Amino acid sequence: MEVLNDSVVSEFVFLGFLGSWEIKVFLKLTFSLLYLGIILGNLFIIFLVITDSHLHSPMYFLLANLSLIDVGLSSTTVPRMVTDLLKEKKVISFQSCMTQICFLHIMGGTEMVLLIAMAFDRYAAICKPLHYLSIMSPKKCILFVVISWVTGTIHSMSQFSLIVNLPFCGPNTIDSFYCDFPRVIQLACSDSAMFEFLGTANSGFMNLITFLLLLLSYVFILVTVWKSSSGDLSKALDTLSAHITVVVLYFTPCIFIYMWPFPTSSVDKYMFIVDFAITPALNPIIYTLRNKDIKLATERLIKHYHSDRFS
Ligand SMILES: *[C@@H]1O[C@H](CO)[C@@H](O)[C@H](O)[C@H]1NC(C)=O
Repeated sequence: MEVLNDSVVSEFVFLGFLGSWEIKVFLKLTFSLLYLGIILGNLFIIFLVITDSHLHSPMYFLLANLSLIDVGLSSTTVPRMVTDLLKEKKVISFQSCMTQICFLHIMGGTEMVLLIAMAFDRYAAICKPLHYLSIMSPKKCILFVVISWVTGTIHSMSQFSLIVNLPFCGPNTIDSFYCDFPRVIQLACSDSAMFEFLGTANSGFMNLITFLLLLLSYVFILVTVWKSSSGDLSKALDTLSAHITVVVLYFTPCIFIYMWPFPTSSVDKYMFIVDFAITPALNPIIYTLRNKDIKLATERLIKHYHSDRFS
């Protein structure tokens, strides 16, 4: 509790959606269903990858890990937002607020590095098909996953150390639905300009650089395929389009949230919905519906239960 010594603020209040009761009920219903879809869809992918031996390959292990993070990422914000929607006063304690920031950045940072690992996996599969299994050996795969979590945690801790020691004494209203540093840091009573800059550098530039690197790596893969005589560009494009869609969907709101220079405007207020509710819901759809292996695995699963019941 030493952290709270010179802080008078013990809770924050979210402004949330400003709209009619009917709209809020509609949103509550929509987001509840969306959240249910996120949980079921992503758990289904994890279940399928773990149980079906045909899917025991680096690509699907990384995909299952992505699903796990998506579940975590939306669980840090969406349930709270949904339960808050119809409440008159949306209060969050100081500790919960800090915890939310902490988990948000662990998950977000981990997802970022995992997307890099997935891009590297596609590079190895498409550009070095003969060495794919030795480049992406099970050991390396686990190493990638561990590096993702360690990086996410370090990123979150460095972010957290900026904000947790700031004094909060006056205003405690957050014009948002969840706690994150761009809005919380503005409520600090000390001059927070330097912290704001450090926070932006940590999250914003990291996002921007990773995003550009990922796009560059996809271009690099496509150019490599295009140049090689035996390469099948349309097939590579087909594989990569799912990745590119997810990467653009994930990073655009992040870059907006952390680098938008006018955090008091409401442009970034609703952006988070894309990252915490839309992308996690789309990931299973993007990767499942377009993917022959996952479709086959689903069919095998259905057949398996079907024959169990009727034999
Ligand atoms: C995450 O990846 C590792 C390494 O390949 C794998 O062993 C593990 O099963 C994956 N986790 C999930 C939930 O699929």
